[in-house]
Amino acid sequence: MIKISPSLLSADFARIADQIGEVERAGADYLHLDVMDGRFVPNLTWGPKIIGDLRKLSPLCFDTHLMIVEPERYVDDFRKAGADIITFHYEATVHVQRLLVHVKSLGAKAGISLNPATPVSMLQDVIGDLDLILIMSVNPGFGGQSFIPNALKRVREARALIDEYNPSCELEIDGGVGRQNIADVVAAGVDVVVMGSSIFGAPNPGTELRALRELAEPATAYAN
Ligand code: DX5
Ligand code: ZN
Repeated sequence: MIKISPSLLSADFARIADQIGEVERAGADYLHLDVMDGRFVPNLTWGPKIIGDLRKLSPLCFDTHLMIVEPERYVDDFRKAGADIITFHYEATVHVQRLLVHVKSLGAKAGISLNPATPVSMLQDVIGDLDLILIMSVNPGFGGQSFIPNALKRVREARALIDEYNPSCELEIDGGVGRQNIADVVAAGVDVVVMGSSIFGAPNPGTELRALRELAEPATAYAN
C-alpha cells in the first residue's frame, strides 16, 4: 500500500493541532516536516524547537526533510526533537556516507534527497546505507510549484537501483503532486508520496487525503 506524507509546509500553523488531527484520522502514514535555512533554499521555516513541540501532538512517523547546508551540524538536534526519518540533501554536504551512518547510529532512518539536476546514479555507491531516497519533483524551497515531468524518469531509475541493491529502501517523491498526477508517480514506482498544497490547500484536508489515496491505489497494480 502506498504511503502518504502530508507536508506541513502548507498547513495553517495557527490551527496546527487540528490540521494534524485531520490528516491523522484520514490515514496519513507520515508527517513531512520541511526544514529550510535560507541558504540551501531561498526560504525559511523551522528548527528543532518546533519539531519538538509538534512531537507532543502526534505519534505519526516524523519524515524530516532537511533543506539546509551542512546538515551534519544539526542532525543530533533533530533526532532529539523527535525526527524518525532524517533526510538530507546530497548537494548539501561533503561526507554523505559518513552522515548516513551517523544518522542511523542515532536510531533514525536515514534518507538522501536529490535536486532535479542531480543524477540518480550518484547514489549507486551508497544505496546499501540508505533507508529512503527522496526524489525532488520541484526545485526545493516552496510549496505549490509545478511538477517537473522528468521526475518520472528519475523515479524509475531510483526504483531500479533499489530493486537491484536494497529492496527495503523506500522511494519518496516531493513536489507538485496532486489529483492530476498521483497515479502517474505511483505507477512509476514510488512508495511514499509527499503532498503539501494539494492536501492543506483543500477545504477539508482529511477528505482530500482519502480522495488522493483512492486515485493512487489502482496505480500500484501497474507499479514497476
Ligand atoms: C518543497 C518541499 C515540499 C513542499 C511540497 O521544497 O520540500 O515538501 O511542501 O509542496 P507541494 O506538495 O505543494 O508541491
Ligand atoms: Zn519536502
